[in-house]
Amino acid sequence: MIVDRQGRRFRNLRVSLTAACNYACTYCVPDGKRLVATQDELSAEAMVRGVVYLMEAAGIERLRITGGEPLVSPRLEPFLRGVRGLGLVDISLTSNGQLLARKLPILLEAGIRRLNISLDTLDAERFRQIARGGDLRSVLDGLERARAAGMKIKLNMVPLRGQNLDQVLPLLEYCLERGFELRFIELMRMGHLAHDANTFQQRFVGIQELLDLVGERYPYVQADAPLDATALRYEIPGLGFFGVIANESVPFCRTCSRLRLSSTGWLHGCLSSSNRHYIGDLLDKPRHQALPVLQRLLVKALADKQEVAFSGGATIMKVIGG
Ligand code: GTP
Ligand code: 5AD
Repeated sequence: MIVDRQGRRFRNLRVSLTAACNYACTYCVPDGKRLVATQDELSAEAMVRGVVYLMEAAGIERLRITGGEPLVSPRLEPFLRGVRGLGLVDISLTSNGQLLARKLPILLEAGIRRLNISLDTLDAERFRQIARGGDLRSVLDGLERARAAGMKIKLNMVPLRGQNLDQVLPLLEYCLERGFELRFIELMRMGHLAHDANTFQQRFVGIQELLDLVGERYPYVQADAPLDATALRYEIPGLGFFGVIANESVPFCRTCSRLRLSSTGWLHGCLSSSNRHYIGDLLDKPRHQALPVLQRLLVKALADKQEVAFSGGATIMKVIGG
C-alpha cells in the first residue's frame, strides 16, 4: 500500500469509460461541439484488468464509473460484467441521465445502487441552452425509474450566474421531495475555463452565496460527511440533506483519496495536476510483470496530489473525464 506523508492513499478509483458525451455543456466545451471518443480508447477487458491491478497495487476499494458520458459507451456492459465479482466495496456511476431509463436494468443487474446524475435546471428551454444536447424529459423519466427501483441518487448542479441561479431552490425542492441529495458544484477552471478567466469570473458562484440562497427558504445545519468526501454536507431538519462541492473555496486536497484512469489508459493522481502516467501498455501484461511497474507509477501519481490546501485561483485544471 502506498501512503504519503499526509497519510493519504488511493482508495477510490474513477474509471472514465469514454471521453465521448451526448451533451456539450457550456461549462465543459466552448463551442457546442460534442466530445467524441478517440481511436486509442482501451477495451473493456483492459479496463477491467486495470481495476484488478489497481485494487492490488493501490488498495482500491471503491469504483466510480464516469466519462465523458459512460452510458453512451459500448464498453458499459462488458465492463460491468468484468468488475462485478471483484470484491469492490462499492460500484457507483456518474452520468448525465439522458440514457438512464434505457440502461437502468443493466446497472441494477450489475449491482449498482448509487447514482450521481448531473442536472443544472428543471426548465426545458434552459436545459437545451446549457446541455446543448438531449432533453430534460428523458432525464426526469430516468430519475423517476431509478428512484422506483431503489437507487440512492445524488443530483449534481453547477450553478452559473446568469444561467441557472434561479434554479437553486426549485432543484432543491425537487430533490427534497424525492429523497435525492442535491450537490451544488462550484464551477471549476477546467477545459476552456482554465484559459478563459473572464467567463469563469462572470459565471462563478461561491459556496457562501449558495448557502445564503438556500437559507432564505430553508433552515439548515452542518451534517456529517466521510472525511474524504467531495462535498460539505448540510441537513435541512425533517426534510433531507444537500451538499456543496466547493472546489474553489474549500478544496478537499488534504483528504483526497481519488485516483483516475482515463479511457485511453492514463492514470491521474490529482485532478488539478497536469501530470499523468500511462499504464495502457501494462494492462496487456501478466500480473507479475505489470505490478512492479505500476507500483512505481503509483508513487509518482500520489506525489502529484497537492501538498497543502491550495488556492484554487492558481490552479489550472484539465479535462480528463469526470
Ligand atoms: P460520491 O462522493 O461517491 O458521491 O462521488 P463524487 O462526489 O466523488 O463524484 P461525482 O462524480 O458526482 O463528482 C462530483 C464533483 O466532485 C465533480 O464534478 C468535481 O467537482 C468533484 N470532484 C470529484 N473528484 C474530484 C477530485 O479528485 N478533485 C477535485 N478537486 N474535485 C473532484
Ligand atoms: N465545473 C464544475 N463542475 C463541472 N462538471 C463538469 N465540468 C465542470 C466544471 N467546469 C461536473 C458535471 C458533473 C460532474 C461530474 O462534473 O456537471 O456533474
